[in-house]
Amino acid sequence: MQVDLIAGSRYRALPSHLAESMTRHPTILVFDSGLGGLTVFAEILRARPDAQLVYAADDAGFPYGAWSEAALVERVNLVMDRLIARFRPDAVVVACNTASTLVLPHLRARFPAMPFVGTVPAIKPAAAQSRSKMISVLATPGTVVRDYTRALIETYAADCAVTLVGSAVLAGLAEAWMKGEPVADADLLREITPCFVETNDRRTDAIVLACTHYPLLLARFTALSPWAVDWIDPAPAIARRVDHVLADGGFEPRAPFPDRSMARVLFTSATRPAAALAHALRDRGLSDLVEAPIPVFA
Ligand code: DGL
Repeated sequence: MQVDLIAGSRYRALPSHLAESMTRHPTILVFDSGLGGLTVFAEILRARPDAQLVYAADDAGFPYGAWSEAALVERVNLVMDRLIARFRPDAVVVACNTASTLVLPHLRARFPAMPFVGTVPAIKPAAAQSRSKMISVLATPGTVVRDYTRALIETYAADCAVTLVGSAVLAGLAEAWMKGEPVADADLLREITPCFVETNDRRTDAIVLACTHYPLLLARFTALSPWAVDWIDPAPAIARRVDHVLADGGFEPRAPFPDRSMARVLFTSATRPAAALAHALRDRGLSDLVEAPIPVFA
């Protein structure tokens, strides 16, 4: 037990693990199947510049949207075993709806001491802010069929007409876009069009970006939209949650992490990013590539 001066000039006895937390920068592991989690990573970087961030993309397993549920649970457990052993993070952010809506209870049972922050479809805020009460959820084929997603709709959007749109190709198009490859308007339009629903007197006014890859294409979606809608991106809310989780673990905000340019990125395939992607990663504060192949067994 240690006694420490904390904000508010009062003395409080701290459990030793919290006292230790206050003397170092927290390490946060941000995890996705690919590059989509970068939309969450950016918000965490903004919220907690004092944290040391590691970004891990399971590109060897991409796309998660196509995996069966049992195989995906096994895959994420395997990858997480390796990542947690290697980086010993203070918190893990599963920056992937497809994984979070399925695997979070398994991860929490497997690593009971580890705080996990998930990313789930932002149905609650979309329903709350919709005026027409017609909302759409744009996600991977995996996320749209999850019980978790159905439960969110029943709990938070009972007063809305909800259109679930599962796209098998959009995450791949977002990856291509990030790698500097051409992505045709027609290909994007075909995927987002089912989200725009019109009846005699109402039309969709809020669309949930329920895959972390999709905000990477937000400017393109907005330009292609047949009418203006609110696109709901959960990333800022996830960053706030990460901040709370860190504070609960004794990591109050402190001076920025010293060598920000050295935030680490790991691809499970150990493929080196080509020039355009390397540039995009550097722009997002990721430059130190850690190579660690994690083969796909399933
Ligand atoms: N970024 C992931 C999500 O949020 C999914 C992409 C994939 O299919 O792997 O759901």
